[in-house]
Amino acid sequence: MAPYPPLGDGGYMHIDILTVLPELLESPFQHSIMKRAQEKGLLSVQVHQLRKWAVNEYGMVDDYQFGGGAGMLMMCEPLAKAIDELSQQRKFDEIIFLTPDGELFNQKTANSLSLKENLLLICGHYKGIDERIREHFVTKEISIGDYVLSGGELPAAILVDAIGRLLPGVLNDETSALFDSFQDNLLAPPVYTRPEDFRGWKVPAVLMGGNHKLIEEWRHEQSVKRTKERRPDLLDE
Ligand code: ADE
Repeated sequence: MAPYPPLGDGGYMHIDILTVLPELLESPFQHSIMKRAQEKGLLSVQVHQLRKWAVNEYGMVDDYQFGGGAGMLMMCEPLAKAIDELSQQRKFDEIIFLTPDGELFNQKTANSLSLKENLLLICGHYKGIDERIREHFVTKEISIGDYVLSGGELPAAILVDAIGRLLPGVLNDETSALFDSFQDNLLAPPVYTRPEDFRGWKVPAVLMGGNHKLIEEWRHEQSVKRTKERRPDLLDE
């Protein structure tokens, strides 16, 4: 029997990332839960230097925009060639462009992407990418928030982390994603560890009482209270 529950048809998720700054993505997947996911064979992440598909020997992948305007754009050709070549190796379920004008990333999108097998993430740079790539290759555009970053690498790392930890077998019971904030549209309740009394600030008595039913009720009440106070929009969904 397989040691881990099968995922889709392939049994694991593969994520390719296209970037001009692969160095930015070296560390995020080499620690903690992302490292474990890869060691367990549940996730593989491959970062590709886009300049491998550059239009000339100087590694050119960007050019001025037609019609004028400050800033360079990532050209069609390197991106199209890279996508074509990688698509021969895998059938991508989604080709995702990280961009501030994409749909806002949330737990629901993370959940649904965690059911896929092959994802390709495109990190934009400069003033963005030629619109024709978005029209003809990209299947999903995602923003991680209403602010502009200097490139799509950090957003890509966030996506991989949020998705990777949801893959079956990655988290153990103790860290189960089922109890995360947002999984049921509620924020997580407050949590405490030793000591029971720190500078006179005491842990709520119910958590020390050992009555699991009461503890669950308290946690749920606290979740609802916290969500009402901080994110009432979640309760409307
Ligand atoms: N690239 C630059 N800013 C971004 C954002 N907020 N989300 C996703 N990709 C981006």
